[in-house]
Amino acid sequence: MRLPSRHPPTTAAETTADLVDRTSIEQDRNEALLAWYRAERRDLPWRATSDPYAILVSEIMLQQTQASRVVPFYQRFMGRFPTPEELAKAPLSDVLTLWSGLGYNNRAQRLQQAAAHVAERGWPRDVDGLEQLPGVGPYTARAVASIAFGVRVAAIDTNLRRVLSRWHGEALSGKTLEAAAAQDLGDDAAAWNQAVMDLGATRCRPRRPACSDCPVREWCAGPGIYQPPRSQGRFEGSMRQVCGAIIRALIRGPVGFAALVDRTAIEPDLVAAALESLVVEGLVVERPDTSYALPD
Ligand code: ADE
Repeated sequence: MRLPSRHPPTTAAETTADLVDRTSIEQDRNEALLAWYRAERRDLPWRATSDPYAILVSEIMLQQTQASRVVPFYQRFMGRFPTPEELAKAPLSDVLTLWSGLGYNNRAQRLQQAAAHVAERGWPRDVDGLEQLPGVGPYTARAVASIAFGVRVAAIDTNLRRVLSRWHGEALSGKTLEAAAAQDLGDDAAAWNQAVMDLGATRCRPRRPACSDCPVREWCAGPGIYQPPRSQGRFEGSMRQVCGAIIRALIRGPVGFAALVDRTAIEPDLVAAALESLVVEGLVVERPDTSYALPD
């Protein structure tokens, strides 16, 4: 194992030899990582393009959803809404219909708002501008900036945090994580970010990491340091499912409350609670005849 001992990197006490060694460690590790990525990268449809719209759609879908599940949704969505203009002018009910099954439906609503912004004003091409788009947080802005616009930034998420913490043998977060990411990032940030994503998904998994099959094990302190976060609470998980069931039921057409309870086969109290938040979020509308519908 060869790895630098401390983060952040440069202190007056460090010797030139330390710095030379660290630079070569990162270079060697990145060469091994990228060679592995070129040979074994997952064949995902959004990797065949650098169209910022396609990259944004994929990254929003990939928030909280595994890549293999996203693929068929992404393909249908891009078939129906191939440009920001097409998405911006569609009724929200059509957008939600194609999104249904992916979950976290307000992602679809915000993606449509982002598309409207881009259709009107063009693409922001840097991280700060991208972060102004609805639904685009620091991670997604950096992923799109690097993959679509070639900006040299690391896309920091829990996946990258786990991988880098293991490389460095230290539970990184906040400033130490940013410093480590800036230090480790390769010149081709698009390839590097996606290589780390693939490493985290297929080798450096939260549980049961496949270290014996890892291309960068020689430059890693091992998996011990990283504690997988606890999974989502039961209440939030079930509320999300109820919201998904309501959207699916409303795709079949507007209904009153009692019929909605029948269609979803879910307890009335839960349906009422979920409806309330869906209405507040603008994903469901209550009509004058008291039926519920997807918005136009
Ligand atoms: N997860 C988030 N972004 C991704 C990407 N571009 N490819 C694969 N998995 C991802």
